[in-house]
Amino acid sequence: PAPHSRPPLTVYLAAPRGFCAGVDRAIQIVELALAKYGAPVYVRHEIVHNRFVVDSLRAKGAVFVEELDDIPETDQPVIFSAHGVAKSVPSAAKARNMFVLDATCPLVFKVHIEAARHYEEGLQILLIGHAGHPEVVGTMGQLPDGAVTLIETAADAERFVPRDAEKLAFVTQTTLSVDDTAAIVGVLRRRFPSIVGPHKEDICYATTNRQAAVKAIAPKIGCLLVVGSPQSSNSLRLVEVAERAGCPTARLIEGARDIPWRDIEGLGSVGVTAGASAPETLVEEVIDAFRDRFDVKLETVTTALERIAFNVPRELRPNSAA
Ligand code: F3S
Repeated sequence: PAPHSRPPLTVYLAAPRGFCAGVDRAIQIVELALAKYGAPVYVRHEIVHNRFVVDSLRAKGAVFVEELDDIPETDQPVIFSAHGVAKSVPSAAKARNMFVLDATCPLVFKVHIEAARHYEEGLQILLIGHAGHPEVVGTMGQLPDGAVTLIETAADAERFVPRDAEKLAFVTQTTLSVDDTAAIVGVLRRRFPSIVGPHKEDICYATTNRQAAVKAIAPKIGCLLVVGSPQSSNSLRLVEVAERAGCPTARLIEGARDIPWRDIEGLGSVGVTAGASAPETLVEEVIDAFRDRFDVKLETVTTALERIAFNVPRELRPNSAA
């Protein structure tokens, strides 16, 4: 139909949204490894939690496996995902003489170092995070079994019985809800005033900024679409943040195909954001789908500027001999 016959729709685009520096680096590592060493390159776990990213790297020759045992004898690179791995993984890779390229996000790696430091100081460590998420498995696996206790909720924090209340530390997953985590940390600091930890938590800049941008658009819209995969922790948190900020509907969509048209009809405005592992092409596809049905007015709401970038491993930098 001609534009004038389409109903108007204002689309509020959250900024920042989409790729963070850690995801960008992890994808670059796979692409550079493919360019330098040829296919296949093996990737332990989804490099980042996005189906589109994983499928397109697979098409270029990346082979995704869940465990190192699934990889045959090979001289080809083995890449660890952005979420980080337990200590047992690099040691198993070393025992098999694997050529490892580690795509663990430097901000996750920082949490591993913090946890190890607390452990060396004899502190009992609490990890605030979600059970089963690969980042949590990786962080807990930095230290011997039993050294780290997982705290998922404020109720867990209320119930926790320390070995020694004077010898406690906490670290957190990087992709949590800022508000939920503040509440949990609040409980821990109230119950254990001498607990050692980061100034606030270990939630990364990208998670924090994406949640703040959603809070800024939530009051303007009747529906928020979060482009991201169901396994993506930070994307799921964006849905929750929108709901709590008073947005009547918030939905996680993997791409334009999942747009819940019935939720949007008659609203006049929607919000769009994307989790840290979702490529901007998917956002563009969503906006194009809106343009097919509506007379779209695009408004970007920017709450922060991001200029962070991380280096790829030395072997993959230009002019590297390795
Ligand atoms: Fe790293 Fe945060 Fe992205 S921890 S991978 S920068 S979501």
